[in-house]
Amino acid sequence: MELQNKIAVITGGANGIGRETADLFLKNGATVIIWDIDDINGEKEVDTWNAQGFTSFFYKVNTAFAEEVENATKNVIEKVKKIDILINNAGITRDAALKNMTFTQWQQVIDVNLSGVFHCTKSISPYMVAQQSGRIINAASVVAHNGSFGQSNYVAAKAGVIGLTKVWARELGSKGITVNAVAPGFIETEMTAVLGTDFMDELLKRTPVRRIGQPIDIANAYLFLASEKTSFITGTCLNVDGGLTL
Ligand SMILES: NC(=O)c1ccc[n+]([C@@H]2O[C@H](COP(=O)([O-])OP(=O)(O)OC[C@H]3O[C@@H](n4cnc5c(N)ncnc54)[C@H](O)[C@@H]3O)[C@@H](O)[C@H]2O)c1
Repeated sequence: MELQNKIAVITGGANGIGRETADLFLKNGATVIIWDIDDINGEKEVDTWNAQGFTSFFYKVNTAFAEEVENATKNVIEKVKKIDILINNAGITRDAALKNMTFTQWQQVIDVNLSGVFHCTKSISPYMVAQQSGRIINAASVVAHNGSFGQSNYVAAKAGVIGLTKVWARELGSKGITVNAVAPGFIETEMTAVLGTDFMDELLKRTPVRRIGQPIDIANAYLFLASEKTSFITGTCLNVDGGLTL
């Protein structure tokens, strides 16, 4: 029960890694607030968890829009009084090689994967500063380190997230708040379901632990960085990739 009495906001918590993280955080004693655009899965998951005796809430929030994030933050604070943990996990892909990438594809990914992280952190961090404690964890990606064909928008956003993590670790460290990033390798979710079997076979060969990552692998890393034990870890980016980037 690493997160007893903690309140966690998890963006993109209706599916994939975020959903698994919510489940793990609830089992570790946290109250979990999901912010996601997918209200069908979000409501369904929250109903299932609450029927099991956990405490979770779903808010339909598009994290790309500052005003929606601001309103959701106020509503959460009114309801549960504080936010201890922010997992900036919502993310999308709109892949295309540079020559084919439209500005719309570029902007959509920047809006969610980079600006969304900015909006949520800007909105929630003042409450953490006021209570002189908090954990902020941002979803980066291993592709931010080495690039990835057809992902100008995604790599720019994820590299930006690693940069923001370091800035905020410096700005918020003296207020009792740690800020870290997790860089997943390839994890089996909707996001990677589009990748072909040839790609996945090649990936497996290049991954020292010889398996594809599962959402729980990332959820465990989020839990570690969200726990009280990690108060001396800040500004780092933890690769969780089975050794892919070695
Ligand atoms: N799956 C991987 O291999 C992998 C690898 C590296 C990084 N990541 C990152 O991990 C995070 C989670 O990825 P995943 O694989 O679970 O993806 P996913 O597609 O399974 O889930 C993403 C969730 O984010 C939500 N979302 C999308 N846009 C949103 C918005 N504007 N506002 C609020 N919610 C929104 C979706 O509705 C969905 O519930 C993402 O940031 C992703 O970039 C994933």
